[in-house]
Amino acid sequence: MKGIVKLILLLLMVFIYISCVQETKKEIIKRKPMKITKQTFGKVDTTEVFLFTLTNNNGMVVKITNYGGIVTSIQTPDKDGKMADVVLGFDNLPNYLDGHPYFGCIVGRYGNRIANGKFSIHEKEYSLAVNNGPNHLHGGIKGFDKVVWEARTKKNTDSVSLVLKYTSPDMDEGYPGNLKMRVAYILTNDNELHIVYRAKTDKATPVNLTHHSYFNLGGTQENALDHILTIAAEKYVAVDENLIPTGELKDLNNTVMDFRKGYAIGARIDEVEGGYDHTYVLINNGELLKVADVYHPATGRAMEVYTSEPGVQFYSGNFLDGNLTGKGGIIYNKHHGFCLETQHFPDSPNQESFPNTILRPGEEYGYTTIYKFLTK
Ligand code: BGC
Repeated sequence: MKGIVKLILLLLMVFIYISCVQETKKEIIKRKPMKITKQTFGKVDTTEVFLFTLTNNNGMVVKITNYGGIVTSIQTPDKDGKMADVVLGFDNLPNYLDGHPYFGCIVGRYGNRIANGKFSIHEKEYSLAVNNGPNHLHGGIKGFDKVVWEARTKKNTDSVSLVLKYTSPDMDEGYPGNLKMRVAYILTNDNELHIVYRAKTDKATPVNLTHHSYFNLGGTQENALDHILTIAAEKYVAVDENLIPTGELKDLNNTVMDFRKGYAIGARIDEVEGGYDHTYVLINNGELLKVADVYHPATGRAMEVYTSEPGVQFYSGNFLDGNLTGKGGIIYNKHHGFCLETQHFPDSPNQESFPNTILRPGEEYGYTTIYKFLTK
């Protein structure tokens, strides 16, 4: 009799064990939809370009095209789990080809302005394409935001990545040297979008790559003035009327420019001529640290920015003017989105006191920026 009871108990334990293992397996499958897919997005001249969809285990979705390395969509949850797209952009390629103010793209060779499109290396003067009044902006007439990058997808243990490659030829937009680049977009299961930049050159050349997403954590229905922004910076780069640095790094000193304590983007924007469009001098000593965070009170969505770069350009979408209609038929008015572009300071090739931006043969350019999405 005792033997039978023991046998029944043993069988029961085996049954419970098998069910537990099966449940865990199901759980793992349920929690592991992490994937990266590729679909056609249209043609640039005769070259086919693609739209890649990166999905992590939490269901966060990032869409990126290899035309300009443009992030076309980032879908993240709010405090109640409701998903929304938190970047400005278009549904289709023709709209991107028609022209736009650098929505979501990789910017280069040089993010922001170079005065009069001129600089010298070893006493040789170079003239760049001029596309912003008298100045050179964001790489010129055809910057890296308008080229087709070679793309490869990768699935890692805890992330999915899209690796983009492009070689900018010698004298491209006036820049010396063949610049060989690799930019990886990595979506992790911690809801982080990492952007890892690498470049090498065969002639000394300025390099200052950045990313130009316009964020709106509210889901892009309204303007972004209600977002609470914090930036870990004590100084900013002073600029003249053409947004060219004067060379001075100004103390923020509790002025309207000072976001150390965190306040709404719109709270004092009227006191800033033209709106915010300034490089903040970061306190990170070249280490990958948190330099900014943004919080959208109505939805509870928040975003943290980490970088090792010495600056971040805070641009409050001042030049959006209602002329562009984006995804879902939304008209993009002034301040509809804001950019936090991690980078070196504008016009550094002409400013001796600014951190160096000249890349030389034999050196490797590289840094990482992380945009982390969360709720509070
Ligand atoms: C610059 C602005 C410029 C905008 C173009 C920003 O990175 O700081 O001055 O107008 O890009 O969309």
